[in-house]
Amino acid sequence: MPIEIKKAERIRNLPPYLFAEIDRLKREVAARGVDLINLGIGDPDTPTPAHIVERLREAAGNPANHRYPDYEGLLTFRQAAAGWMQRRYGVTVDPATEVVSLIGSKEGIANMAVAFVDPGDIVLVPDPGYPVYHVGTSFNGGKTYRLPLRRENAFLPDLAAIPREIARGAKLLWLNYPNNPTAAVAPRAFFEEAVRFAERHGIIICHDAAYAEIYFGERPPSILEIPGGREVAIEFHSLSKTFSMTGWRIGFAVGHPELVAGLGKVKTNVDSGVFQATQEAAIAALTGDPAVVDRLRAMYRERREVLVGGLQRIGLPCDPPAGTFYVWVPVPRGLTAAGLATRCLEEAGVVVTPGNGFGDAGEGYIRLTLCSPSERLREAVERLRGLDL
Ligand code: MLT
Repeated sequence: MPIEIKKAERIRNLPPYLFAEIDRLKREVAARGVDLINLGIGDPDTPTPAHIVERLREAAGNPANHRYPDYEGLLTFRQAAAGWMQRRYGVTVDPATEVVSLIGSKEGIANMAVAFVDPGDIVLVPDPGYPVYHVGTSFNGGKTYRLPLRRENAFLPDLAAIPREIARGAKLLWLNYPNNPTAAVAPRAFFEEAVRFAERHGIIICHDAAYAEIYFGERPPSILEIPGGREVAIEFHSLSKTFSMTGWRIGFAVGHPELVAGLGKVKTNVDSGVFQATQEAAIAALTGDPAVVDRLRAMYRERREVLVGGLQRIGLPCDPPAGTFYVWVPVPRGLTAAGLATRCLEEAGVVVTPGNGFGDAGEGYIRLTLCSPSERLREAVERLRGLDL
């Protein structure tokens, strides 16, 4: 006899995950035989560099790697991550206590709330922002307080505008620069202000640095290089975007040892770590020739010129991204983000992400990625021209 299956309250009214829903719509249109240009999810189209793949191939054959990995990550992986932090930011961390491996930074972001958010806790979250900050908070009974990112504020949250009682009650503050989806980069002065704010109110800063290596001006700062940052913050790094490794699921969190330990404690209870062969390949990535990343950055820069220039010519002007591989495009007057995204998909076969999928403050924008070759970006612009917006 069938039983009544009742979903938990926390997922009962949860809308589908943004990119899962876009995938569904995409499949529907593709099934009609449309040649889609996917500028939706931020998933690099170039293969993982060959030396990383080769390292995996070798490591996968080693029986020592077929057993359970260490929960917190191989010490050698954590040492490689610490060495990378030292080279990139001049930040010295103890790999044994200040670094933990992650099954991609998405996992760590979600589990951060399990470790540190109690029911009723306030979590400050950028809006628009990566959906997992809010979902992780709400799964654990926390209350999201949204910080609008507006163009007139260079897409930085106005920390001074947060009401005193909210700031006092807040447990965590999520930041993410280079920023998804607005493509803004935060100056050092903003991180200094954020650290002072966190100190004043006793708030933990969680900095999502998944796009740390994709920038077109000065290297964006790590919050851990800011004076006082190490006392209040944990930073999430991912190999996904930096080394075109989204499918591999590996990243790391680095920062205050108590924050790293709390996250690690959750992970020992809910997952069993990252396949060691993947960790060995990740060591090859982190310790390898940085020219690999320079080349990817140069490729995105060239694509940025193609897409931003093209959009400008067809009457969809936007700011060139300062970082990330996203382009945040204002929606022409009279259209909504979802309305324009639907037209792009249905009438032009171009997949884009409606800005309001990242939060209410994302209304009025669509997000396009640079994760397609320049010729496809040119073709996308031509097709969008046909929409006559
Ligand atoms: C995005 O497109 O916003 C991200 O790639 C999604 C993700 O990293 O999970």
